[in-house]
Amino acid sequence: MRLLAIETSCDETAAAVMNGAQLLSNAIATQEIHQLYGGVVPELASRAHVQRIVPIVNKALSQARLAQHEIDAVAATYGPGLIGSLLVGVSFAKGLALQLGVPLLGVNHLEGHLFSANIKPGGPEPPFLSLIISGGHTLLIYVRAWGQYKILGQTQDDAAGEAFDKVAKILGLAYPGGPAVEKLAMAGNALAIGFPQARLKNSAGSSNRRFDFSFSGLKTAVLYFVRKLPASELDKQRADIAASFQNALINALVDNVKLAHEQFPARAVALAGGVACNRTLRQAFARLSEQREFALHFPEPIFCTDNAAMIARAAQFHLANGKRSPLSLAPDPGLGL
Ligand code: KG4
Ligand code: ZN
Repeated sequence: MRLLAIETSCDETAAAVMNGAQLLSNAIATQEIHQLYGGVVPELASRAHVQRIVPIVNKALSQARLAQHEIDAVAATYGPGLIGSLLVGVSFAKGLALQLGVPLLGVNHLEGHLFSANIKPGGPEPPFLSLIISGGHTLLIYVRAWGQYKILGQTQDDAAGEAFDKVAKILGLAYPGGPAVEKLAMAGNALAIGFPQARLKNSAGSSNRRFDFSFSGLKTAVLYFVRKLPASELDKQRADIAASFQNALINALVDNVKLAHEQFPARAVALAGGVACNRTLRQAFARLSEQREFALHFPEPIFCTDNAAMIARAAQFHLANGKRSPLSLAPDPGLGL
């Protein structure tokens, strides 16, 4: 089955084509306009999707060397995400499926991230643990089987990527902040400043224990630390602040996954989402994987950040199992897992 998938849940306009298990193309247009504002402006994101959706779909089709009429199904992210952004992709997919007379399938964006380590062969097979760490979400999920997910924990305030972006802003770095903080942190000492790690009451009884996260306290601690510094000191300590913040955030993620793995000792753990591009984080999880003896999977960076290949992979699973969406499919901003 030749499948066209569309992803427009946030600020990436993306389209991908898959034929069976083979990814034929993966086209992404990142919206640079948001850099001016230090974060995604929903109204501008929707407008940019409207402008880019046709060129990106055409790019994905031409890279796959397919014409529109050779597509057997159309998939699109229906949520969670920014409602105006989702509307563009969903409406476009519905129009195309209607015109071509082929099945339509709405895909959950988070389920897409769960499939992102399986776009290429050799990914984890259920049951496994997946940590989705992006600008919008921080979720720890037990993948019992494909299509059967148990949310073990999620952030109670900021997402991990959001914390990177906000700390980047505090340090005067450009958006998106994650890559900028990571680069600056390389020149710093991760143990220079003891920023606090959130301690959540995660023990609601052994069977329904939560493994939640919290990053707003850490972000605020960085803000207060920077406010107290004279301007001349800030320049000297910027790299140490970046490295110490990154270290505290990574430790919080690693500690929680460690606890969850003790209760759900899966053979594999997968990392997904934009923050999973972070190399220091990957090294920390590699150490945990040796300690806890699980196989660690992380997608290559292009599949960590938002993309349509992961939506295609999830759609392919559901289409093969006979799932279809009606043409009345509507965006849904809720988690939906
Ligand atoms: O998955 P993604 O593209 O979009 C969402 O669904 O949110 O993730 C984007 C987030 C941003 O917050 C960005 O700062 C963060 O991922 N990010 C990183 C790195 N690369 C991207 N965070 C830490 N280190 C990185 N190298
Ligand atoms: Zn995402």
